[in-house]
Amino acid sequence: MTEDFDVGADWHVAAPYDFLRRLRAESPVFHSEHLGAYVLTRHPDVRAAYGDPRRFSSKGSLTISRSLTAETKERLGEHGSFLSSFVANVDPPDHTRLRRSVSKAFTPRAVAAMEQAFRRLNEDLLDRIAARKQADFVAEIGHEPSIKLTARFIGVPEPDEAFVQAHVKDWFQLFLSPQPPERQLELADSFLTYLDYVDRLVAARAKEPQDDFTSLMTSLIGDELSHREVVELISTILLGGNDTVPNQLGNTVLRLLREGVWPVPPELVANAAEECMRIDGASLGSFRYAITDISLHNVKIPAGSLVLLSTDSAAHDETVFPDPERFLIDRPNAAEHLVFGYGIHFCVGAALGRLQLRTALDVLGRRLPHLGLVPGQPIAYRRSLVGRGLTSLPVRW
Ligand code: HEM
Repeated sequence: MTEDFDVGADWHVAAPYDFLRRLRAESPVFHSEHLGAYVLTRHPDVRAAYGDPRRFSSKGSLTISRSLTAETKERLGEHGSFLSSFVANVDPPDHTRLRRSVSKAFTPRAVAAMEQAFRRLNEDLLDRIAARKQADFVAEIGHEPSIKLTARFIGVPEPDEAFVQAHVKDWFQLFLSPQPPERQLELADSFLTYLDYVDRLVAARAKEPQDDFTSLMTSLIGDELSHREVVELISTILLGGNDTVPNQLGNTVLRLLREGVWPVPPELVANAAEECMRIDGASLGSFRYAITDISLHNVKIPAGSLVLLSTDSAAHDETVFPDPERFLIDRPNAAEHLVFGYGIHFCVGAALGRLQLRTALDVLGRRLPHLGLVPGQPIAYRRSLVGRGLTSLPVRW
């Protein structure tokens, strides 16, 4: 096997499926030099690893802050290890306590209540742009409603939305992808400005609670959560809410248009969304650390090793999804994809993510029934290890 995981390579970013199929068949526990990690590629192995936090730890698995320079770390001060207490980045018992708190905001009732707001945000956007007949789906349609919904859910006042959005982008870059030293310092300053903003938001809600996530989490400070944990939770809900859903929606619309299934008949929307998440997942997998030596398929994963659970590969595993490279709108087990993870860290926003995808498909299908790709325009993917998303998707209607 000469190829390796290389998110810098176009073939890997857009369609790594031949490569992943060979890994599943020949090397189901693959050691990637490029990643410095072992990669699990078979569906049953990926699922079992998610389900086994005693051997596959999440502690510190999310941040790449290891690559920060000493100067950047000094600038960040006590925030240098930011994310260290984020719910996806810790093991039980801390995880159990944090998860209990954050789940309070994601009750089925609270999620259902967001449908109307999200529908309205999509309708408003289309009111503004429908007459134009052409747009870049990624830049002009896909992101705005989810970003606005997340901001309202958190309790960010509308005039501050653009400010928060700009700083969150910097924050993603600093902690989730390696940056040159000069850029690190700029991003660190932006990040500190953003933290200061979140601190002030928490203080404001402590004084005068409102009906939002920040107020709910702030009310738990002292009993269940520390101030720092609340700040991290708010910041990282923005990470979960702002980016993954729009990425998944872009992948989904591209797939449906290419397959010629537009608009999706209402009774098929739910399963179509699952099949799109399976075949073009916005999340490619999760990292874990092996707590002990682990033997799997005759490979020894030494304790302390980084392991990538490739949900992207699992979703194309032919033993679970027959004919995996075919899009089947009524595939009976499409929802067995692991794009939201599995086990104790299963995405707390999964119901909200699903609701947004279905609602967006419904509104877009109704308002833009003649949506199509602009012929001759190349489709470009962003380069990322853990997420698949488009950088632009020119559409017309
Ligand atoms: C299609 C959209 C989404 C995808 C593909 C996605 C994917 C994931 C995955 C794979 C995990 C598991 C991480 C791990 O085990 O290491 C996760 C966890 C999480 N997600 Fe999502 N997510 C999405 C939407 C959202 C939304 C809308 C929110 C919040 C508003 C959210 C918040 C979270 C949080 C807080 C966790 C951590 C849960 C825990 O560790 O217990 N996600 N997500």
